[in-house]
Amino acid sequence: MTVRVPAKVNLQLSVGQARPDGFHELVTVFQAVNLCDEIVVRPNPGGGIALTLSGDDAEGLPTDAANLAHQAAEALAAHVGVEPDVAIHVHKAIPVAGGMAGGSADAAGTLVACDALWRSGVPREELSALAADLGSDVPFPLQGGTAIGTGRGENLTSVLSRGTFSWVFALADGGLSTPAVYGECDRLREGRSVPDPYVSDMLMQALAAGDPVLLGISLHNDLQAAASSLRPSLGQVLAAGDDFGALGGIVSGSGPTCAFLARDEEHALDLAVALTSTGLCRTVRRAQGPVPGARITG
Ligand code: C5P
Repeated sequence: MTVRVPAKVNLQLSVGQARPDGFHELVTVFQAVNLCDEIVVRPNPGGGIALTLSGDDAEGLPTDAANLAHQAAEALAAHVGVEPDVAIHVHKAIPVAGGMAGGSADAAGTLVACDALWRSGVPREELSALAADLGSDVPFPLQGGTAIGTGRGENLTSVLSRGTFSWVFALADGGLSTPAVYGECDRLREGRSVPDPYVSDMLMQALAAGDPVLLGISLHNDLQAAASSLRPSLGQVLAAGDDFGALGGIVSGSGPTCAFLARDEEHALDLAVALTSTGLCRTVRRAQGPVPGARITG
């Protein structure tokens, strides 16, 4: 069973106060983009979970229970009452620890793939609840498209979005730890009152109208200052995108990947070439969004 599962970019990431459980209350707007990991699952009779990985940055990733895909297979097997005897292969294209929910996408893809392999027919809401237990960003790649996330980011509401947007992603050397970026955000805001986050009207208008210029100026990420504080070179990357005429530029999620919005695919190609030539990023990727969530392809 083969499943393709998309990366996400946060068009808005507004971070409220830290909660007693250590998570932050969020209002975020996710968009799924067609930078996809592929998950292949096969029966592994009596062999338990055997996880292998390939593709960009796959080397060094855990293949044991520390990997969210492993945890996803375990959780679904326990939920439906089967032995977790499955060989999982993850082919990665989504940057690792890059703020694009690559690990979460692999967990979401594994849930869908194992549900199909085991013919367990778990309803979407139950898969979504299992996903939320695995991580705040796991439910979104099940659903895809464009969605508002509240709570930890796991409560999703679909958003009306017209047309397709063209993105260029500047990938960095090495990742950033999500807890470390949230921790830095708290440190930078210490002593200041943190308002309750709310959804940007301008962003909703931009999406409903399919207006890339309005979307470009609506992009907002409260974690950007924290990611840039931990990785000062991100400021130069964002400035380069701006110089090269991106409609908007933002750190993706907790970073360090930077996302730039282009007018169209031709502009995205120009922007990708220009960003590559600066030598400020490890590599660039072009992608479009919104795209559907995890889906069975074979
Ligand atoms: O849910 P997930 O396991 O992906 O979260 C990883 C870490 O990111 C959490 O342990 C927490 O430090 C931080 N986080 C947060 N607030 C959120 C989501 C994540 O503080 N809403």
